[in-house]
Amino acid sequence: MKIKGQHYRSVWPIGDDAFGIIDQTRLPHEFVTLTLRSPQDAAHAITSMQTRGAPLIGAVGAYGLALAMRADPSDENLTRIHDMLAETRPTAINLRWALGRMRDALLKRPHTDRSALAWKEAAAIADEDVAMSKAIGEHGLTIIRDLAARKKRKLNILTHCNAGWLATVDYGTALAPIYLAHDAGIDLHVWVDETRPRNQGASLTAFELGSHGVAHTILADNAGGHYMQAGEVDMVIVGTDRVTANGDVANKIGTYLKALAAKDNNVPFYVALPSSTIDWTLADGRDIPIEERSADEILKMTGRLPGGGVATVEIAAPGSPAANPGFDVTPARLVTGFITERGTCAATPEGLSSLFPKA
Ligand code: MRU
Repeated sequence: MKIKGQHYRSVWPIGDDAFGIIDQTRLPHEFVTLTLRSPQDAAHAITSMQTRGAPLIGAVGAYGLALAMRADPSDENLTRIHDMLAETRPTAINLRWALGRMRDALLKRPHTDRSALAWKEAAAIADEDVAMSKAIGEHGLTIIRDLAARKKRKLNILTHCNAGWLATVDYGTALAPIYLAHDAGIDLHVWVDETRPRNQGASLTAFELGSHGVAHTILADNAGGHYMQAGEVDMVIVGTDRVTANGDVANKIGTYLKALAAKDNNVPFYVALPSSTIDWTLADGRDIPIEERSADEILKMTGRLPGGGVATVEIAAPGSPAANPGFDVTPARLVTGFITERGTCAATPEGLSSLFPKA
């Protein structure tokens, strides 16, 4: 993705002893990059959400483990740092997938080879994520093209949270087809759910779409159903943090309500994902751990002051408690289809295994 004419990925190696990320807590007001030099830096970046999005935190975790191997390639350190990084966020499976892939590859090799191998493996995870996002974009473009041909007018696509290039290494999952459709000249407009409480839609998705020149409008989270009833949403595309073997989908809190409204209004509801987001070990969504986040995210809001500074203010009745589940689970029956790097399929065990037979 280009920012002011310069190409960025969301994570990149710096020499062989550090890596860079974009500080997403500063967007959209400031574009700031950070250099991470230790696994503890990586863990802090993930827990503080300087870096976020399921595929991206997988790649950041992998680079964090690679830094650990540079300092101490022993089995004990490998296990300790693997476990420490895996604890940083519970819902997105990509983090565990990437850390598990790193650990399995490294344990097979002598200590002397581990540092170089870990750096190469982390780079491979990042490169593969880019390739998967690109392929998701192409498969999703086919769906958007068909819909545009049927509707013969501007398409309105709704998305929730941020599943763009900031949530992946590049291109995105849910936003990749939208970028390709826009680049192909398809007339479209995106409804961007603001995505309370952290506002990933208003601050990150809108920033991305604006930078790419895609027409969009930010909506209060509760407005999507109203626009669906009015016939002003042609399709919904969201990303996901974990899909279980039966096709249930964990995604940012509020996704389930959008899927219910889409079903009630016959609006197609697609979920875009790389195969690293599928958790084959869970039969259905009931066992997905849902991250409970700080009440402060509900009780306070951060934004830019008229004078230019950024400030956090209290927005709730003083002393009231708040509950803050970060994710919800959309049952497979509400999902029209999955868009993956291998093509599209039904949100069913058969659909998933038709694309990923040996998994
Ligand atoms: O808590 P976040 O911002 O890391 O959550 C990420 C999401 O839920 C995104 O919506 C996304 O769909 C999954 S990552 C492509």
